[in-house]
Amino acid sequence: MVKIVIENLAQKEVFPEGKVNSVLSVLQSNYIDWMHACGGKGRCTTCKMIVIAGADQLSPLSAAELNYRKLGELASNERLACQTSVFGVCKIRVPDDTKMPHMTYTN
Ligand code: FES
Repeated sequence: MVKIVIENLAQKEVFPEGKVNSVLSVLQSNYIDWMHACGGKGRCTTCKMIVIAGADQLSPLSAAELNYRKLGELASNERLACQTSVFGVCKIRVPDDTKMPHMTYTN
């Protein structure tokens, strides 16, 4: 089973359909607004997600993510939603600094 649980969006569960896509595209196709300033090209870090569980169910770090890790802009528990695919069950959080003003977040 492939499933993304968003902890601070009231444990919302999202189930990707069809071929494996980025977490960002899965969120968007489920009508969940998620910051993505560069349009999913790996050129910013606004699509950052905090990985709570299931890190081993995610695709390997992309070149962009490795670069941001090296620069200290992507913590070891963070991934870029536009650069990451999910192959099993994972739980993520929206970081405080990329929360959207019109969304209601939970703990
Ligand atoms: S949207 Fe810019 S890096 Fe993901």
